[in-house]
Formats: sequence, structure tokens, C-alpha cells
Amino acid sequence: MTVLETLQTQLLTNPLNWFLSAFLLYVVRTYFTPVPYHLPISKHPEVTVFREYTPKQLREFDGRSLQTKIYMGVRGKVYDVTKGRNFYGPDGPYGNFAGRDASRGLAKNSFDLEMLTPVDQPLDTLEDLTREELESLREWHAHFEGKYDFVGKLVNEERSPVNPSSRWSGK
Ligand code: HEM
Repeated sequence: MTVLETLQTQLLTNPLNWFLSAFLLYVVRTYFTPVPYHLPISKHPEVTVFREYTPKQLREFDGRSLQTKIYMGVRGKVYDVTKGRNFYGPDGPYGNFAGRDASRGLAKNSFDLEMLTPVDQPLDTLEDLTREELESLREWHAHFEGKYDFVGKLVNEERSPVNPSSRWSGK
């Protein structure tokens, strides 16, 4: 009697052998099937690219608009004040400074709206500030320098990046 005949007889005489055969097949199949190996998906840490911001571009970083980050300008420098969201967020006491050049307000210790230069006007030169006001601004600036990341420079509109459509026009 061949092996196949023995197997056939066994299967016909005892139905339990069907289950045992099926289990055996399953074990053999599992043994030869490669286990899929999933590599952990690496996520790049968030990076901030240092760049120039015009007043209008800075405005987007007021914590309300498209950007969730909050940036603030102090004496031509842009700071990421997102971690101070309690101060500069939409409901914060200094929310007026978010996305704006706060220099004049810091110099005069006022967060009133009239301290802010409209974003379509050239940057505040601060030339009219008194010695005391400049000192106040200097102290605030040192505070920001020590607490927040310096992420960019505040520039006037005309120094904004070249319009791509005119870049190749030969003008
Ligand atoms: C009624 C008067 C004021 C009170 C009671 C007050 C209170 C405070 C307090 C408690 C802090 C938090 C300090 C900390 O935790 O480090 C703070 C921070 C600050 N205040 Fe005032 N403040 C007043 C007026 C002003 C004014 C007029 C300005 C306008 C320039 C101003 C601008 C700031 C700024 C920029 C910060 C720093 C927030 C930061 O670290 O990012 N404050 N103030």
C-alpha cells in the first residue's frame, strides 16, 4: 500500500483526520509565509526656515489666520512667540502684538492699537522715541531675545522676494 493509499484510507475511515490534515496544512503554510515587516515611519522634526517678512507677511502669523504660529516683530527682528500664546493668542492681553511690529508699543509700554503701524505702510523708524522709550524697548528686546526663537527679519515691502513672473522677463 502506497503512502497516498494509506492517507486516503485514513481520511475515509476517520473524519477527524480531515481536521488534523487541515491544521497541518495551516501550520505548514504559516511557517513558509513571510511575516510582513513594517518599518516605523520616520517623521521629520518641524523646522523653521529663517527668512524675511514684510509687515503683510508677518500679519499671517497672528495666531488667527492660516498659520497657527504666532510671530512678533521687535526692532527689525521676528520672534516666534507661539509658546507665549497665553499672552499673544486671540484672547491674550497682548494679542494686538501678534503678527505685528510691536516695537513702538514696547517702547511706550502700551498695547493700544495706535501703537501699530498699518501693514501697508513702511516700517516704523522709531526715530521720534525718547531716550527713556528707547531704553524700555531695549529692555523688552533683551527679554524677547532670551525667551523666544529669532526666526526672521522684518523688511519693507520693496525688499520682499522678487515676483517669480518678473524674474525671467529680463527686466
Ligand atoms: C496693568 C498693567 C499691566 C499688568 C498688571 C501686566 C502684567 C503682566 C504679567 C503678570 C506678565 C507676565 C510676566 C511673566 O510671567 O513673565 C506680563 C508680561 C508682559 N507684559 Fe504686561 N502687564 C501690564 C501692562 C503691560 C503693558 C502696558 C504692556 C505693553 C507693552 C505689557 C506688555 C507685556 C509683555 C510684552 C509681556 C511679556 C510676555 C512674554 O514674556 O512674552 N504689559 N505682564
